[in-house]
Amino acid sequence: ENTGYEGWLRFSKLTNANLEAEYRTFFKRLVMSEESEILGTAKEELVKGIQAILDTSLECSDQAGQASNIILATQNTKIDLVTTLVGDHSSQLNEEGYILKTDKETHSVLVYGKTDKGVLYGVFHLLRLVQTEVSLVDIEIVENPKNQLRMLNHWDNMDGSIERGYAGKSIFFEDNRFVEDFSRIKDYARLLASIGINGTTINNVNVHEVETNLITEEFLPDVARVADIFRAYGIKLFLSVNYASTIQLGGLGTADPLDENVRHWWKEKAKEIYSYIPDFGGVVVKADSEHRPGPFTYGRNHADGSNMLAEALEPFDGIVLWRCFVYNCLQDWRDRSIDRARAAYDHFKPLDGQFKDNVLLQIKNGPMDFQVREGVSPLFGAMPSTNQILEFQITQEYTGQQRHLCYLIPQWKEILDFETYAKGEGSPVKSVVDGSMYEYKYSGITAVVNVGNDMNWTGHTLAQANLYGYGRLIWNPDLSTEEITNEWVKATFGVDPQVVETVTEMLLKSWSIYEKYTSPLGVGWMVNPNHHYGPNVDGYEYDRWGTYHFADLQGIGVDRTVATGTGYTGQYFPENTSFYESIETCPDELLLFFHHVPYTHQLKSGVSVIQHIYNTHFEGVEEAEELKNRWLALEGKVDDVRFRHVLARQEEQAEHSKEWRDIINTYFYRKSGIADELNRTIY
Ligand code: GCU
Repeated sequence: ENTGYEGWLRFSKLTNANLEAEYRTFFKRLVMSEESEILGTAKEELVKGIQAILDTSLECSDQAGQASNIILATQNTKIDLVTTLVGDHSSQLNEEGYILKTDKETHSVLVYGKTDKGVLYGVFHLLRLVQTEVSLVDIEIVENPKNQLRMLNHWDNMDGSIERGYAGKSIFFEDNRFVEDFSRIKDYARLLASIGINGTTINNVNVHEVETNLITEEFLPDVARVADIFRAYGIKLFLSVNYASTIQLGGLGTADPLDENVRHWWKEKAKEIYSYIPDFGGVVVKADSEHRPGPFTYGRNHADGSNMLAEALEPFDGIVLWRCFVYNCLQDWRDRSIDRARAAYDHFKPLDGQFKDNVLLQIKNGPMDFQVREGVSPLFGAMPSTNQILEFQITQEYTGQQRHLCYLIPQWKEILDFETYAKGEGSPVKSVVDGSMYEYKYSGITAVVNVGNDMNWTGHTLAQANLYGYGRLIWNPDLSTEEITNEWVKATFGVDPQVVETVTEMLLKSWSIYEKYTSPLGVGWMVNPNHHYGPNVDGYEYDRWGTYHFADLQGIGVDRTVATGTGYTGQYFPENTSFYESIETCPDELLLFFHHVPYTHQLKSGVSVIQHIYNTHFEGVEEAEELKNRWLALEGKVDDVRFRHVLARQEEQAEHSKEWRDIINTYFYRKSGIADELNRTIY
């Protein structure tokens, strides 16, 4: 019974007999003449994968035979065939890069990494080629990850709950301790390594009472056991820490970053952590944000706070991922100069150059909070002397909570390709966060993950595609959405053209469909407070925790212009400032993010704002219905459990999209008094 537990590492039998025959000529002997823990993993994965796909046991040897060798090698390997095949490619590799190359004469395949990590990634690539049925006859691939840090953030609490988790409970914690059985963590590590992830936190950025103790002797032995599992897959373990640990754990009565005792306490604490986990990655910190403690309490700034931790971790090569999600969550609606979108830039930009070089600022992709559509954070590219790491949200907090299908790769690609103009034309976000634009010492991409202990990991089976795609995209942001999607669908559901076509189409259309029936034109939210599922136009509008759309009888939207609004547009580089500032050039999909307009305002698409709201909400519902019907047509082509599981979610989405449509349409009809030109039912 296939529950989806294997994810994209299903290694099912092949459909193409010719290719299968070809593979059999290659896969006979596995040659490896060195040893390391990660090489051991690579070997284990290859043997297991090939066993599953071809039903054949690879013979293992430390020497190449006459023919049919699969050679796993690093720069330390001394095998003649390796030297010949690698040629001068080796100089093109970085620490995690690899070469995959076929030798036609001997029917051999070389998987060569500069280091053992490269070999592990190369093995997963090779398995992917086989699983997606690609011929190996002419393979010559040189791959390097574009981003140095390729991370995940778990928002898991030790009671087993997951903040913004939609796929069950934590795979790490239960009842305020670690789970007993770690085997699932190993299965998880495999999934992550297969898509190139090389770091993860295991606990929530909101570090509560019990979790604060993760860095004490009570839990460090367990943390170290988890780190051991991840290490074998090339993944470094990080922890989210409580900024005020010196108070809760150290009994110091202060967390002032300039206090000598505070600094000393953290230095000792770092020593202790590294005595358990010598390659501990570092810490993630949410400070002065949504009621979390931070340096502001002591009249210090975020450079002071993060540098204090960075100083403690520095001797061990640890890093500090300091979040920029700092804003006033109790802003007053009367004060139109306060704008949550401005906050990160206002707080951090003036500090450029003051951070130690093992601090990275962790910046959410947008200035607000992972909405279905919002602007791109103007902080990217604005701090030439400060390391930056981008944060995405894979878990679908505002995008349907894994009950609705919303494939986020197209959204993330737009963000990575966003032109910042930081150094003139040709300065996309991806070249900021891959560290190349300003030569950052540390940089990369991280994301809040969507995994829990549901059998299929992600609640909605198709939401696995967001995790898979995230890993592949941050390995190489130049991969196209189509390539990534095609890989995932084939590895997950097999190569049957009807299945591939249908699932691909469902995924590719899903973001736009979700956007259509939810909050319009970039304005965001309109969700129920707290849990954030389902429509509630004024849910936060009249709440203390305000996030505003400013809809009234005449119009809607947030004026973020320099001329008449909050001035947020002025945080971009000049080309983008004028692009968004002008209602003429501001793109439709972000109109209400940047401007307050009357309902009768005509969009570039030719329709008025109000008619756009009606049209998209009716269309969105029809398209959600189509998603379900597309899936239904795959009955018998997708194994039963996964088929029924996805169907149930698509049924729920189709049904629930109607609630969105009706509530949004009715709300705006009553506000504006303007009827739908097509006279459709609005309650
Ligand atoms: C959002 C989310 C919170 C989370 C916060 C953060 O506001 O709703 O659950 O803690 O982001 O990123 O810190």
